[in-house]
Amino acid sequence: MQKLIIDGGTPLCGEVTVQTAKNAVLPIIAACILTDERVVLENCPHLKDIDAMLDIMRHLGCYAEFIGDDLHICCNDIALNVINSDLTGKLRSSIFIMGAILSRCRRAYISHPGGCEIGLRPIDLHIAGLRGLSVKIEDDSGVLCCDGSQMRPNVINLDFASVGATENLMMAGALLDGETVIVNAAREPEIVDLACFINAMGGHVAGAGESVVRIEGVPHLHGCTYRPMPDRICAGTYLAAVAATGGEAVIHNIVPEHIFGITERLKKTGAKISVGDDSVGIAANDRPRALHKLETNIYPAFPTDMQPQFCALLARASGSSVIVENLFENRFGYTSELNKMGAAITVKDRVAVVRGVKTLNGAVVKACDLRGGAALVIAALSAAGRSVVLGVEHIDRGYESIEDAFSALGGKIRREPRATC
Ligand code: EPZ
Repeated sequence: MQKLIIDGGTPLCGEVTVQTAKNAVLPIIAACILTDERVVLENCPHLKDIDAMLDIMRHLGCYAEFIGDDLHICCNDIALNVINSDLTGKLRSSIFIMGAILSRCRRAYISHPGGCEIGLRPIDLHIAGLRGLSVKIEDDSGVLCCDGSQMRPNVINLDFASVGATENLMMAGALLDGETVIVNAAREPEIVDLACFINAMGGHVAGAGESVVRIEGVPHLHGCTYRPMPDRICAGTYLAAVAATGGEAVIHNIVPEHIFGITERLKKTGAKISVGDDSVGIAANDRPRALHKLETNIYPAFPTDMQPQFCALLARASGSSVIVENLFENRFGYTSELNKMGAAITVKDRVAVVRGVKTLNGAVVKACDLRGGAALVIAALSAAGRSVVLGVEHIDRGYESIEDAFSALGGKIRREPRATC
């Protein structure tokens, strides 16, 4: 098991460039099933979650390979193999491949993706939405057998603005004859990016980014070359780390409005924020101010995927903060590890009370999920002394070499044993 060795206390300063967004690339990889022509996705990050999605694509008979940093994908023939649990279990978001396969083949066989560390992650909204398009879905001992022979467009009203369900339905409607409408659609930037990708293939998706998305199906989609959006959560993670260490930095390759909900909260902690066309600058004082209340919610509110990182920042704030996690029922697992470093966090259900302490101390801590792991790294960078962060495989799911990003900002962080190339 690899680990990160971090010597904290150095303000992070300098410049770093953000990777392409994992949560945009994953649905876009699935959407490549919608065409039998070659697609090139430029500048994609080498991440475990993307590798897992590529394994699923290959299992379906697609060509899917990195050539340098570009992903080359071609699904000229689809083998309707059952996507079994050893594939879906690795990747929660495998579920939104259903819509793409049904759109192209009108049949799909996929195992339940199962739960994960941050919550049960049910798929009822996906199932209800696809059934709304007249897909027959039977659960045969954990395998969802989907018959889309009678699929037809419809108006689907989502009970909750689920990101994955919105993406699933956009792909399901892309090749249907007629207009599919998603009401109460998720509005995240990744939804807009998926719509732009489908339209780059010749699709007709309108309204992405708003609560009503209209998909006018087309008979065929063609290949294309596409560069997905930058990763707003990686950008937010780096900014939170600079704020936590009292540093000053510029984060490049980001769409500033994608992280407005993050930078506005950083300003409230006392950080100075500057905005460029595709960069954001931050200058932080040595100790952040507490936030009376920080609530996660759907875009454009403060994102749940930044909740652990802000908790690590607020752990050293002057004052107490209350964090409310409205999206996932089990997303505070990392706080017990932060308390090993001297933090004073108490959690009850979906509420964490963070009593800021002046100093955190290095410790041996273990990541239990992706963003919780990032929070431990931020805390270790801002702590006095040495920390060892175990469970780096969780962090590698979403950050392409987190140690390189923070080393670029002057952080004293290294991986052991070093990853073999
Ligand atoms: C996406 O997950 C992201 N993952 C998550 O990022 C992110 O936290 C989440 O959206 C919310 O923004 C990817 O894009 C690959 P949801 P998704 O469906 O689509 C409930 C990360 O760290 N729900 O919007 O699974 C669900 O339980 C990951 O990069 C149902 O009840 O999120 C949760 O409470 C973590 N039934 C809420 O909706 C369903 O059928 C939000 O889930 C689906 C979801």
